[in-house]
Amino acid sequence: MNKTKILITGVAGFLGSHLAEKLHNLNYEVIGVDNMSSGYEDNIPKEIKFHKFDCCDFDNMNKIMKGIDVIYHCAAAAHEGLSVFSPQEITKNNLQASVAVFSAAISNKVKRIIFCSSMARYGSQKTPFTEEMEPSPVDPYGISKVAAEKILISLCNLNNIEWVIAVPHNIIGPRQKYDDPFRNVVSIMLNRIMQNKPPIIYGDGNQKRCFSYIDDCLNCLLPMINDPKLNKQIINIGPDEEFVTINKVFEICSNITGSNLEPIFKKDRPLEVKHATCSADKARKLLNYETKTSLQEGIEKTYRYIKKRGIRPFDYHINLEIKNELTPETWLKKEI
Ligand SMILES: NC(=O)c1ccc[n+]([C@@H]2O[C@H](COP(=O)([O-])OP(=O)(O)OC[C@H]3O[C@@H](n4cnc5c(N)ncnc54)[C@H](O)[C@@H]3O)[C@@H](O)[C@H]2O)c1
Repeated sequence: MNKTKILITGVAGFLGSHLAEKLHNLNYEVIGVDNMSSGYEDNIPKEIKFHKFDCCDFDNMNKIMKGIDVIYHCAAAAHEGLSVFSPQEITKNNLQASVAVFSAAISNKVKRIIFCSSMARYGSQKTPFTEEMEPSPVDPYGISKVAAEKILISLCNLNNIEWVIAVPHNIIGPRQKYDDPFRNVVSIMLNRIMQNKPPIIYGDGNQKRCFSYIDDCLNCLLPMINDPKLNKQIINIGPDEEFVTINKVFEICSNITGSNLEPIFKKDRPLEVKHATCSADKARKLLNYETKTSLQEGIEKTYRYIKKRGIRPFDYHINLEIKNELTPETWLKKEI
């Protein structure tokens, strides 16, 4: 019998590479795409077929889509804060790239498309965010995710193709890019502390978030591949316990690394949502979601990964398009 063929976009990234490894081990045929704008080459599992090109390249996307059964579309410039200052680059990689993937997938009659959206779809609404809330994104990142969701739903429903929208939030763990100055607060803090540089906190540090460990998130993403009851569902993925402040995250990172460095507080980042957490009720019901790794353990595992791979200088790999008095000086002056 032919193996089910899975395409994973963003396969050099954090989520895409873990998914690729798991699905390969489950005996699926895995094909990966990445433009290597982010992610790490050593994230890509050796056993899978890898193509390096941009998801916006419709002709190449159309070519490799032949015979694909299911797609996990993970590629994105997942830079929420930066999207306010580099909206062109962020929306190109989130919206235009997604539409190219969906269009090629639909024209090749794939069975199911699983799209990784983001908690940014909910904006600043009252927490915890639930799936039936009307999306109300406040920044170009969230807006591009919601636009991509709507195009996905419209085209899939018209063409009778199954879709699932996963809404992960603040995932942590090994393979996450830790030299990206624009996102991944836990990894940035650890990478800075390990370089003996004080962590940077935007605002007063009382913003609150929930963090999910990568394995807990994967446990939810894997059944999305073919479970009939998940067709046409939007599902939040991640814990709704341990709703912590960034100051608390700083404290945990300091304890784990044994650091006495005091944080540097910077101005609030424009449009940053103060409190963001999702309800996990639907994931518990449909996916048996369970938080198996605590925040403390998740940060410990991330720390061990960075320690093993080695600290790295921060890589300002995306240009600032809007430089003005609102742009964080950490980015303008490359202070991270
Ligand atoms: N990590 C999180 O906390 C989190 C939270 C919510 C949603 N998400 C979503 O999950 C998905 C995966 O996130 P991640 O943390 O693994 O990000 P990541 O940055 O680690 O991986 C994304 C990968 O996509 C690639 N990529 C970007 N634009 C591309 C393009 N135009 N063509 C081809 N490849 C491209 C990058 O090179 C990178 O390897 C994203 O869609 C993101 O928006 C992630």
